[in-house]
Amino acid sequence: MIRIFSILVGLFFTAALAWSLVIDTVQLGKDGLPKNAAHEFGKAHDLKPLKLASDGPFGKFDQAQLQRGFAVYQGVCASCHSLSQVSYRSLAALGYEDAELKAIAAKATINAKDPLTGEMKDRPGMPSDKFPAVVYGGVGSPPDLSLITKARHGGASYVYSLLTGYEATQPADLIKHFPDSKTGKDMHYNPYFANLNIAMAPPLASDGLVTYSDGTVASKDQMAKDVAAFLVWTAEPELNQRHQTGLWWILFLVFATTLGYMAYRNIWAEKKGH
Ligand code: HEC
Repeated sequence: MIRIFSILVGLFFTAALAWSLVIDTVQLGKDGLPKNAAHEFGKAHDLKPLKLASDGPFGKFDQAQLQRGFAVYQGVCASCHSLSQVSYRSLAALGYEDAELKAIAAKATINAKDPLTGEMKDRPGMPSDKFPAVVYGGVGSPPDLSLITKARHGGASYVYSLLTGYEATQPADLIKHFPDSKTGKDMHYNPYFANLNIAMAPPLASDGLVTYSDGTVASKDQMAKDVAAFLVWTAEPELNQRHQTGLWWILFLVFATTLGYMAYRNIWAEKKGH
């Protein structure tokens, strides 16, 4: 009885699978193109590879790169994108001294309660403040970037690909088969973006938008890599610690296993009468 029942269940799933295959093929349409422009022309699943020092189970942030990425954020992205989860104090992880942190924070204007009068007032930022909200009046709505490398498939590679992936002209085939995907007014063609056209104008359109204090040449590509690395840090500032703790655990487990094995040998050596 149970056997017949499981055969029926198996048949049901096989039929469902076969049916979905048929439906998929039918939906490809007569011209062999799927009915979805992003599926055919999008590169969201073919991101440009990006190697970062923080990759892998034992990776560690490259402080110099994080500082460069922060410079790009401040100089280019901050006029549109907030970073509301990050405090100025936490930038110490990038290697800044206390005095530098104070100076960086003081450049921001924070609207906060005046402790004496209880009224809301603008004052210079302090290290304990978080990055302030951004007032944006343009097309679209720029998301907060604090967690963007966690929120998007591909993380840092996605950010890097998006920033360097704008294309001046759309493939003719795309417009021919999907007229709706033609880049509209105030939009920009970027095959790495989910719906191919993005409201953000290419933010890194020319070299040298920032001057790096470590002398690195600020090419478009370099700036994109550095800001992607910085956004990995904002999304997971404890990565170094996590990797270090992991390393100690592995060493401990290797040690405990060795000890256990030696104890086993010792005990059985006597029992076997060697
Ligand atoms: C002039 C304003 C402006 C600047 C400057 C700007 N952006 Fe954007 N950004 C936007 C807008 C608007 C969107 C939303 C686009 C949309 O939804 O079509 C956006 C979206 C994004 C997204 C999200 C894409 C997604 O998958 O939803 C990322 C990541 C991003 N920007 C990164 C950056 C970085 C990094 C910089 C600095 C190098 C930057 N932006 C500079 C306006 C800006």
